[in-house]
Amino acid sequence: MKKYDIHLFVCLNERDDGRPACGKKHGEKLIDIFKEFIKKHNIKASWRVNKAGCLGICNYGPTVAVYPEGVFYVNVQTESDVEEIVISHLKNNQPVNRLLLENASIENK
Ligand code: FES
Repeated sequence: MKKYDIHLFVCLNERDDGRPACGKKHGEKLIDIFKEFIKKHNIKASWRVNKAGCLGICNYGPTVAVYPEGVFYVNVQTESDVEEIVISHLKNNQPVNRLLLENASIENK
């Protein structure tokens, strides 16, 4: 498998049992938005955005994992969230603190 400089995994997991699931919270749309902003902001590194199953942090969704760092973003809701991740993290190597899993507030659980 080819190694990418930036490899994003966007949870698209869906459930019908009432438990939280990122796919029901616009996970699929996030993939297109990430691709759009990565191109728009001319990220030079090799990159890939993959669909992912459950990342195990469903209560914080929608969730996105960034590798190779293994950074998890949670509650990624809007185009502005995605654009901030692309510019700050992917382009300038500065993680977006307010969306990091370790900084997630209890309200998002
Ligand atoms: S459903 Fe997305 S992390 Fe579990």
